[in-house]
Amino acid sequence: MPDPLTPEIQMEAERLRAALHHHNHRYYVLDDPEVSDAEYDRLMQALVGLETRFPQLRTPDSPTARVGAPPLEKFETTRHSVPMLSLENGFDDGDIREFDARLRRLLAVEAPLRYTAEPKLDGLAVELVYRDGLLVMASTRGDGFSGEVITENVRTIRSVPLRLRPPQGRAIPALLEVRGEVFIGRAGFRKLNQDRLAAELAPFANPRNAAAGSLRQLDSRVTAARPLEIFCYGVGAAGGQPLTGHSDTLRFLSALGLRVNPLVREKITIEEALTFFHRLEAERHELPYEIDGMVVKVDRLDFQQALGATSRSPRWAIAYKFAALQETTRILDIQVQVGRTGAITPVAVLESVSVGGVTVSRATLHNADEIAKKDIRIGDRVLVQRAGDVIPEVVKSLPSLRDGSQRPFQMPANCPVCGAPVVRLEGEVALRCNNVSCPAQIKEGIRHFAAKGAFDIEGLGEKLVAQLVDKGVIASYADIFQLEAPQLALLERMGAKSAENLVQAIAASRTIPLGRFLYALGIRHVGEHVARLLAEHFKGLEALAAASEAQIAAVAGVGPVVARSVRAFFSQVENQRTVDALLTRGVRIVSPAAGPASENAFEGQRFVLTGTLESMPRSQAKACIERLGGTVSGSVSAKTRFVVAGSAPGSKRERAEALGVQVIDEERFLALLEAAEGRRG
Ligand code: IVH
Repeated sequence: MPDPLTPEIQMEAERLRAALHHHNHRYYVLDDPEVSDAEYDRLMQALVGLETRFPQLRTPDSPTARVGAPPLEKFETTRHSVPMLSLENGFDDGDIREFDARLRRLLAVEAPLRYTAEPKLDGLAVELVYRDGLLVMASTRGDGFSGEVITENVRTIRSVPLRLRPPQGRAIPALLEVRGEVFIGRAGFRKLNQDRLAAELAPFANPRNAAAGSLRQLDSRVTAARPLEIFCYGVGAAGGQPLTGHSDTLRFLSALGLRVNPLVREKITIEEALTFFHRLEAERHELPYEIDGMVVKVDRLDFQQALGATSRSPRWAIAYKFAALQETTRILDIQVQVGRTGAITPVAVLESVSVGGVTVSRATLHNADEIAKKDIRIGDRVLVQRAGDVIPEVVKSLPSLRDGSQRPFQMPANCPVCGAPVVRLEGEVALRCNNVSCPAQIKEGIRHFAAKGAFDIEGLGEKLVAQLVDKGVIASYADIFQLEAPQLALLERMGAKSAENLVQAIAASRTIPLGRFLYALGIRHVGEHVARLLAEHFKGLEALAAASEAQIAAVAGVGPVVARSVRAFFSQVENQRTVDALLTRGVRIVSPAAGPASENAFEGQRFVLTGTLESMPRSQAKACIERLGGTVSGSVSAKTRFVVAGSAPGSKRERAEALGVQVIDEERFLALLEAAEGRRG
């Protein structure tokens, strides 16, 4: 006999659904959660439980309905009721001033026009159709007139509301077509690619490709596992809303619970728009997602109407694009670099060129096969590109520009650092130096060991590691923990004070969660993410070291290649000695903290420190914040998340208060750190 569905149970489901909708909105749309992840999970589990017991409780807008649906055979197409046009592009301030002048001429207005400017996200345009507040269809832009129906996929995006919120003092429109950009942020992209590498799948080249690939999945359960997000920037058919400006439209969308980019500048002059553009250009790399420019739109909707559109794009808007991230330059030389695992990578030495505002003078050529495939020669003119956080790479050579002086490149037969013969392992494209005492490998290994995500020893960077290894001061990981200040103070560019700081940083790094310890060891195929999975599963180093290959491969998210590599690592006597030596020198492994793993609890959050802290020097506070993914800046702006005020805080505190930025004292700051560290695992 199934349980009877009582009115109390119905009400309980309704209550849970309302609470989850609310918290979803706070978390994914406003980026301002009110409850812990654990509390959210508890509510979700309760609702899933009820809906499993009483399937008749399930509704299409239930917060549980985001896991994807059975796969489709193919996508249907749909015609957009209002075409989804493209945008005209501008490439310098002159183009944008011309656009403004043209519009004033067309509209015959003397007074300055008011514009609304928004970051231009680099993702995919989609349309969401809401009927009576319920998401009923989502489609791609397609050719602008008709697109593919991707409703099930879009339903899995957490920042897309399945039901609109009733805006204050207004009714939900009977029909609303919302337009926006679906994208994957930097952190999501990094983690997605780590997962793919762990599962032995090819990583995505950039966030845009990852978003496109994720959105065009016939199986929406695959989409559900991808970190897609949305920012809404306009409407198609909107059915008689009393809106007068584009900025009102954005506010209306926001009031309905849709996610709108908070960096929008409303009703500004064209000169203010240019200033905003140059700020975005300078700060774009600090944003948690990639943008490729700014969109400027005439704010007044009656002006938009009057200006109309060409067949391609509206006359009332323009995209001001950042300089291209691809440039041509010349390959001066090809050198080889020896990595931590002995892999020998060819690197192009380039005639310096500015690519999207960053000077590039070296670019990876990946391996000998790539060089052959792309027919790249020393002296060639080549196309180089830089995508987001990715290392610059040579896209292709331009053979038509050769003058006969170009020389083909041959990989060396011996390691350029230690001279040992290089080998090519079966099934691998990379060549390797197999000498475990090759100084290049030792340096790279130690640099990795001390880097962020591993032991995270502030001050122990590439240059210092190279000096220490070259001078024979250290030759292994464990040697790091025997370094003393007087000995360090004798090194180049190292005073007594920085030597003391380094020794302190080393001491502070001794206590380390298991996941970071495993990552630090540099086991092949074990990146940060896999290391964390292993730590969470095995809980202790002994259990992992004793596990069989099959037991390791049984961990969710860990593939057979990883399992083989981990098993092989712990079977080698040298590696056992390395681990023992670390433990003997006082390294203390702590087991992963309970709770949802969040590697970067402060991701994207900007802190400002002011006044004197009792518990630590500012440099250490800064290091703590950065370790958790946050940034520390010297001045308070609207983008600042917290101002940490120690004793005798300066004017920064006043400025924060004026801007409405949250000011916290040292005690709150320490509590915040503790909570965040706990979540790191
Ligand atoms: S408005 C009719 N606003 O850029 C004008 N577009 O090149 C519609 N995009 O297809 C576009 N961010 O995919 C607008 N804040 C933003 C945008 C944006 C990104 C994309 C969109 C569009 C393309 C036009």
